[in-house]
Parts: sequence; structure tokens; C-alpha cells
Amino acid sequence: MIDVSGLVKIFLEGGREIRPLDGIDFTCERGEFILIVGRSGSGKTTFLNILGGLTQPSSGRVKIDGNEIGKLSDAECSALRFRTIGFVFQFPGLLAPLTALENVTLSSSITGVTPEDPAYARTLLERVGLPGKADTLPAHLSGGELKRVAIARALVNRPSLILADEPTADLDIETEREVMALFREINRSGTTIVMVTHNTELAPFASRVMKMENGNLTEYER
Ligand SMILES: Nc1ncnc2c1ncn2[C@@H]1O[C@H](COP(=O)(O)OP(=O)(O)OP(=O)(O)O)[C@@H](O)[C@H]1O
Ligand SMILES: [Mg+2]
Repeated sequence: MIDVSGLVKIFLEGGREIRPLDGIDFTCERGEFILIVGRSGSGKTTFLNILGGLTQPSSGRVKIDGNEIGKLSDAECSALRFRTIGFVFQFPGLLAPLTALENVTLSSSITGVTPEDPAYARTLLERVGLPGKADTLPAHLSGGELKRVAIARALVNRPSLILADEPTADLDIETEREVMALFREINRSGTTIVMVTHNTELAPFASRVMKMENGNLTEYER
């Protein structure tokens, strides 16, 4: 499903070179639930954004479902993203004037990949533990509730791949477990998941755990 080779990302910041990704090779088979752990600043968000075609690598190759994303036009890359990938961003960025439900249905109404279906969006909000919050505005939701709306939003197009960036960062331990159990259930129903986090305690939920360190990705020793 994902095939990455020789991936390098270099940022220039104030004349200094930062190289968070320094020659990464990575494969993910359909059906895996891969957790990537790494310290703050190790390059986790950069890596996910490149996998999803949101950021261009400095060098190296990324294939999703056999498509080399560097060779796609912007329109083809967007289409691949809409059809295949659900993003859970580190900072959810919900639209303030829209309710929780409207934030969830928004991407299906824009992309047209799946018909806009408020009933399905409502069941997703229930699955993430937010029954009764469908008509609430983001300003009236807690940090953890915003995260859960963002998870529902990532699922609405029925993606085959979920890229999740610290999806449980603002949650209490109990809600964190519930959200991780939800991801595991989503994975068992056939969706591939790549999740990044600094929290090594999430390891038991994944089928494989890797570590991002010094620009490299290696198997994590549990
Ligand atoms: N657009 C950018 N321009 C310059 N430097 C950047 C940019 N984006 C990220 N970086 C740098 O690249 C490194 C990796 O950042 P990244 O956001 O991928 O880390 P992370 O592992 O997700 O960290 P965290 O756990 O804090 O979210 C950091 O040193 C960061 O400052
Ligand atoms: Mg990050």
C-alpha cells in the first residue's frame, strides 16, 4: 500500500539546514496498523505530510497504491488523497462557523467522493463518543472533543488509509484508550493505519511499531 525509498527532507531555516528525514525506507502492507514513535521534532509530522502528498520531499520516492506521488499532477494527487486517504491532523483546524456535524460532512460535500450523508456522519460522531454534540460549534467543544470530531471527519470518505498525527494528544487516559480501541476496530474492518506519536504506551494497539530518530525509521524494540 505504501512504499517509500531513500526519503530525504531538508528545511532551510535562517541559513541553517535541518534534515528531519535522512534516507528513510519504509513499506506498509494493506491492513497493517503501524505506530511510529519519536520525540518532539524528530520529523513525524513531516513524514506523514509527505506520505499524504501535502509536502514535497527533497529527494526519494513515495508510492501509494502503486502511484508515485511525486509524478502526479496536483489534480491527480488531490484525487488520490480524496479517494484513498483520511487525515487526522495534529492540530484539527475545524471551521468555526460550522457545527461538529457540518465539519464532518464538509469534505464529502467538497470532494463528492462519497455522497454527503449526514446520517453516516452522525453515526461517526457517535462512534467517537460524541452523541449529542453534532449540532455544537467548535468553540463550545473541549480540546479532546475537537480531536474526536477530527477523527470522524477523517473517516467520512471511507478511506482505505488513515494517516493520524498524535490523535490522542489532548485526551485523558480513559478517552485515549477508547479512541485507540476505535482505531483498532477501524483497522480490523480493513482500513490501513499509519499513526505517529511520542507516546510509547500506545504500542500494544498497533500491529507494528517503529521508531523515528536521527532522521531514520527503525523497528522499535518493545
Ligand atoms: N516548514 C518548515 N520549515 C522549517 N523547518 C521545519 C518546517 N517544518 C518542520 N520543520 C522542522 O523539522 C523538524 C521536524 O518537525 P516535525 O513537525 O516533523 O516534528 P514532529 O516529530 O512532528 O514533532 P512534534 O512531536 O513536536 O509534533 C523540526 O526541527 C522542525 O522545526
Ligand atoms: Mg508533529
